[in-house]
Amino acid sequence: MTTSLLILNGPNLNLLGTRQPEVYGTTTLPMIETLCADHAKALGIKATFMQSNHEGALIDAIHAAKGVHQGVILNAGAYTHTSIALMDAIFSTELPVIELHLSNVHAREDFRHTSYIAKAAIGVICGFGAAGYPMAMTALRDYLGDAP
Ligand code: DQA
Repeated sequence: MTTSLLILNGPNLNLLGTRQPEVYGTTTLPMIETLCADHAKALGIKATFMQSNHEGALIDAIHAAKGVHQGVILNAGAYTHTSIALMDAIFSTELPVIELHLSNVHAREDFRHTSYIAKAAIGVICGFGAAGYPMAMTALRDYLGDAP
């Protein structure tokens, strides 16, 4: 079976490219989607790319991923720092999730140092800009490959 990953993006990430480029860079979300599609091809896996500004839609997407995708890469945006409901969704599905951020959240404001997602994730990648997405895909593919 071909490995399939869900790459899920949360609030305000649709504005990448023009949103605080000094923090998040100038790469747009469609450009990141292309980067991920190219990397999926190179790895020989499938990747589905989604974005929503709505917490419930992100939770629904995590629920729906069970049985369809083998793992999730989640940039939950600001919901990372607030959403117990997203954390519970990850625990509920038991899917391996990598928490991802473009910026190094640990070098930023104190409120970004708290992550509910990290409590349920297998690992965290942050601070590498758009390049973090293919890094996370490779890491999750390797994790799944090693899984019994
Ligand atoms: C972000 C970091 C979050 O703190 C912030 O709220 C975002 C983007 C990142 O990718 O660096 O929306 O997840």
